[in-house]
Amino acid sequence: MVNITLDGKKLQVRDDSTILQAARENGIIIPTLCYLEGLNEIGACRVCLVEVKGQHRLVSSCNTKVREGMEISTRSEKVRMARRLNVELILSQHNCNCPSCPRNGNCQLQKVAAQLGVNVELYPKKFRQEFWDNTFPLNRDETKCIKCMRCIQVCDQVQNMHVWDLVNTGKRTRVGMVQNTCTLCGQCITHCPVAALSARDDTEKIWNALSDPEKIVIVQPAPAVRTAWAEETGLPREQAAPEKLAAALRHLGFDYVFDTNFSADLTIMEESAELIEHLKSNGKYPVPMFTSCCPGWIRFLKKEYPEMVGHMSTSKSPMSMFSAIAKSYYAKILNVAPEKIVCVAVMPCVAKKYEADVPEVNSDPGIKDTDYVITTRELVRMLKVANVDISKLNPEPFDKPLGEGTGGAVIFGTTGGVMEAAVRNAYYMLTGKNPPDPDNFIQWKWLDRWRETEVTVAGVTVRLAVTSGLGCARDLVEAIKNGSVHYDFVEVMACPGGCSGGGGQPIHEGEELAWARGNYLRDLDKRSKLRVSYENPYIQELYKNFLDKPLSEKAEHYLHTNQTDWSID
Ligand code: SF4
Ligand code: SF4
Ligand code: SF4
Ligand code: FES
Repeated sequence: MVNITLDGKKLQVRDDSTILQAARENGIIIPTLCYLEGLNEIGACRVCLVEVKGQHRLVSSCNTKVREGMEISTRSEKVRMARRLNVELILSQHNCNCPSCPRNGNCQLQKVAAQLGVNVELYPKKFRQEFWDNTFPLNRDETKCIKCMRCIQVCDQVQNMHVWDLVNTGKRTRVGMVQNTCTLCGQCITHCPVAALSARDDTEKIWNALSDPEKIVIVQPAPAVRTAWAEETGLPREQAAPEKLAAALRHLGFDYVFDTNFSADLTIMEESAELIEHLKSNGKYPVPMFTSCCPGWIRFLKKEYPEMVGHMSTSKSPMSMFSAIAKSYYAKILNVAPEKIVCVAVMPCVAKKYEADVPEVNSDPGIKDTDYVITTRELVRMLKVANVDISKLNPEPFDKPLGEGTGGAVIFGTTGGVMEAAVRNAYYMLTGKNPPDPDNFIQWKWLDRWRETEVTVAGVTVRLAVTSGLGCARDLVEAIKNGSVHYDFVEVMACPGGCSGGGGQPIHEGEELAWARGNYLRDLDKRSKLRVSYENPYIQELYKNFLDKPLSEKAEHYLHTNQTDWSID
């Protein structure tokens, strides 16, 4: 510990802390812009300046360590003037079209400028914008980039993809895409403090569909959406129950409000049957089998390890299975042509926009299974446009038959959930009984970059591994390739923490909420009456009336795909 004086207060603080950390731990707010704890502590923006007695130059508090006897002022006139000047200079190169900006109200630059009382229009502005393909699911607005380099660090250090870097020098320096390896995980978007990176906005297409009287518009929210959709309103997670989400979606005008949980159960039925077939095949299939519900992971594998794509389960993701069933089975129930149905998916994900556009994922020629994908953030924007007051909504049930899911389905939204749900179901398929204690049935050994375990059911031993985040995924794939580890079934989600921390989820400056959101999904699972996917009565009905059984010819047609054929450009 060291003794310091902070704004006249004598304090004892950890000797390894920065001035910023010491201030925060003692309730003193210092504005920051480029800082990301543990990832980006490069002192680029100079917004966090403070004055240290005896030092002529102001110092950046985010990367200056405390020292014994330091006397620091965080709000002297010199500090306030310098911070304001620095923000004004940043704004002089920033397109301040706040009213139409996707980050309006959730922008760190806007917040800091307001805190410092900065006039945004002091200097004449000239912007340069390199060409950007606006059909790509990740959108880049260079006129907003403040060159904080957070995207570079997240993509390098967490995701290990090295897509962004500084290009040019001097006044011409900019942040640009230097490699064509983007997986569309969206982690650079959720860590950008402004709207220089965002997901493609598809909300207008949804409004148009909703106002078309000829169309039947159905919606499916993903498991992870229900844990994050109300965060901006400040409503506690527990009060923003899934049934309130159903009410909100109905309020927007969707004709049928279904649930991706339904098709997560369906994915489990197919994937666990596939796993058992692999285990019993005596070397016919490559080992291990990889989960296939995360398009960020699929893009990663196709770009970085194309020789391993054959390890993927052929089961489509819950989103794509849902849409395939909606335009076949459900179209028959409604007695309408599939073309009359518009399938909208609300996802925590940017890469799902790509998945929906992959031609090979569609079941029948000429029919696009998933018409549009919007992120959780886009849904929140639509609710704002429609003036929906979430706190006043009464809970409403999801529609039947595609709106019911088990506890096994809801944990798809958090890392390890797909694996757990698949193994629960495989246990039933091998023994005819449910696992005795679904919560403690799998005991994980946590390693540095992934977790692993072995489960033996009815004499069959399965070696399992789970990881999330592409940096960890790369280490795991390398270990599998060089033979230092051996597994039968591996779950990978591209975003750290899984879809709860997805690139399409609400953004909170300086907070990583993937684990808190995931814990809520695990609570929902624990509270579910049905915990194992085969128990879903509507899934049983679907097999009885339409698909016959898992891996049947019809199931293969509607629910499986060959990722080797997917184009990733
Ligand atoms: S979306 Fe993911 S892989 Fe692509 S640039 Fe951003 S962080 Fe990197
Ligand atoms: S794109 Fe965003 S995160 Fe990247 S340097 Fe620009 S402002 Fe920072
Ligand atoms: S982890 Fe989830 S949110 Fe992230 S890319 Fe994969 S599917 Fe999308
Ligand atoms: S936040 Fe400290 S220099 Fe940017």
